Amino acid sequence: MDRPRIAIFDTTLRDGEQSPGCSMNVQEKLRLAQQLDRLGVDAIEAGFPIASDGDFEAVQRIAASVRRPIIAGLARACTGDVDRAWQALQGAAHPRIHVFLATSDIHLKYKLRISREKCLERAREAVRHAKSLCADVEFSPEDATRTDVAFLCQVVEAVIAAGATTVNIPDTVGYTMPEEYGQLIGTLREKVAGIDTVTISTHCHNDLGLAVANSLAGVQHGARQVECTINGIGERAGNASLEEIVMAMRVRGDRYPYETAVAGEHLYPSSQMLAEITRVPVQPNKAITGRNAFAHEAGIHQDGMLKNPLTYEIMTPQSVGVPDSRLVLGKHSGRHALALRCEQLGHQFERRELDEVYRKFIVLADRIKKVQDSHLLELIQDVSSSDAAGKKFPPAAATLPFPRAAAAGANSNSNDSHPAHVSGSAGQATVSIPFTDHHSEQEDYLWGV
Ligand code: KIV
Ligand code: ZN
Repeated sequence: MDRPRIAIFDTTLRDGEQSPGCSMNVQEKLRLAQQLDRLGVDAIEAGFPIASDGDFEAVQRIAASVRRPIIAGLARACTGDVDRAWQALQGAAHPRIHVFLATSDIHLKYKLRISREKCLERAREAVRHAKSLCADVEFSPEDATRTDVAFLCQVVEAVIAAGATTVNIPDTVGYTMPEEYGQLIGTLREKVAGIDTVTISTHCHNDLGLAVANSLAGVQHGARQVECTINGIGERAGNASLEEIVMAMRVRGDRYPYETAVAGEHLYPSSQMLAEITRVPVQPNKAITGRNAFAHEAGIHQDGMLKNPLTYEIMTPQSVGVPDSRLVLGKHSGRHALALRCEQLGHQFERRELDEVYRKFIVLADRIKKVQDSHLLELIQDVSSSDAAGKKFPPAAATLPFPRAAAAGANSNSNDSHPAHVSGSAGQATVSIPFTDHHSEQEDYLWGV
């Protein structure tokens, strides 16, 4: 049976740009939009045209030049905003007007100072107006997860009757829990007339670190569009991270049997491009795209990785566009990885010599945070000159391939003769291992599950 298709609605250029320090100019937005197109997202929310002339121009330029995906422009539920959004979207091949209006009592009372009746009327009118301009209209009841459920159902029903084609359910303040959010989507499907004629969408913020889990729960209960951002950027703690959503569904297809059109190999380049443009670095331990996502320092892990990457990685780095896995040499490393790195630097050791190098290496790694190749070479010199029996070879060229099974002192898998290669020798000593052999018979992203 075909797996249901989940549309990926990327809002990096709109909600993402609202995160402090992440604003982008028109040129940068255009460049990122082109990358999102390569990535294969279904919709790009290009901006909030009424917000500024820059936002208007960015939406207009993206609409004119990025032709495959839907291009959405955000608008508050009022005529001026909707008209401005439509003006910016004129050149789009697939335009969408995205109208939003808060529906929770707390927003109605303190922010908008309007009654529920007024809110219902505004939502209905704004969607009706948007629909008179554009066939594709999305409506978001802002702060939906803190809205009285019966009133939320009433608003959603009214906007569907007024012509909305997508209904997005924002967890604006990142307050909901996965089970609760899933149930809310289920309730809307059960209670709202006409809900089967529209696409239900998730839009989850990450204030409690649950944005991805909540989005996935929404999908399990019938949502067929997920709103998300590259690197999870967005207001406050951010939005659901696009790369995490996509890879969760891909790696755990047994639990989440859904498809997206995202090209996995463009995930890491997209993340890097965003970090470069905004100058906001990706946190090192960020799932999927962080610098440590495919790095291993613990000796037991490195030994496992060298024997079979299935031991410690659930997806290949290549499946998300990361060039290869890295074994980082630090105080938690073991003999296996150290021997491999020494060999990559042109030095093979007998077991006893390796023990000596290893002992000195651990003392050094305990003292300094980053062991560089130059430190390692000094240490090797030390051991070699104090041990006449040491077999010392001249350093090999840094890019020379060599058989992984030949790592000195290692219980390497003798069937595994695929080459590893030495990473750039500047900076911390690392061992790069492109494990192309282990996933040839399986889907690229799935090694062992
Ligand atoms: O978080 C939110 O409620 C929003 C809406 C504008 C969709 O970003
Ligand atoms: Zn948002």
